[in-house]
Amino acid sequence: HSKFDEERLRSLIRAVPDWPEAGVMFRDITTLLQDPQGMRMVHNTFADRYRDQNITHIGALDARGFLLGAPLADALGLPLVIFRKPGKLPAETISVEYTLEYGKAALEVHKDALTENSRVVLIDDLIATGGTLLAANTLIERLGGKVIEAAAIIDLPALGGSAKLETAGIPYFALTSY
Ligand code: PRP
Ligand code: ADE
Repeated sequence: HSKFDEERLRSLIRAVPDWPEAGVMFRDITTLLQDPQGMRMVHNTFADRYRDQNITHIGALDARGFLLGAPLADALGLPLVIFRKPGKLPAETISVEYTLEYGKAALEVHKDALTENSRVVLIDDLIATGGTLLAANTLIERLGGKVIEAAAIIDLPALGGSAKLETAGIPYFALTSY
């Protein structure tokens, strides 16, 4: 299949200033979602990176991460584990609180979603403060698993998230950055 084209990817990501509040430059992937070729390029790039790496699970972050995690799990034939905002998962969960670029949040996962020695690739659309991916890492560690890499379409290095992941010893991979 055709190779990764960062300029093309960037042309499909819309910047919305001052949303959801003043001072935030929102990087909107809905424009990318409407471009099937662009989406296929993104999915293929992630699938090629994580094929044959002895990954056992794809972990996807609520909600935009779901749009990337489901096709990746399908492409690699791996189980999909979803990390959700509080109150959404029906069975027994574990939970962790964290802070976001704009607000506070918590994340939950089903206790039986992972087993000890699970090797997880986490995926989300964007890394800002890193709070979301670090929270998922905390939950995975509590269940005895390990994050092999945290993947995203977009890194916002000025917000410090990718540096925080590096400090925590979690490899990360982003297709582009702003
Ligand atoms: C956004 C984004 C990431 C997270 C990144 O999700 O999709 O999950 O914030 O920020 P962080 O690195 O500072 O944690 P949001 O909570 O806005 O929810 P959504 O995916 O449901 O839109
Ligand atoms: N999530 C956190 N910060 C964001 C941003 N600037 N754009 C899009 N999603 C985000």
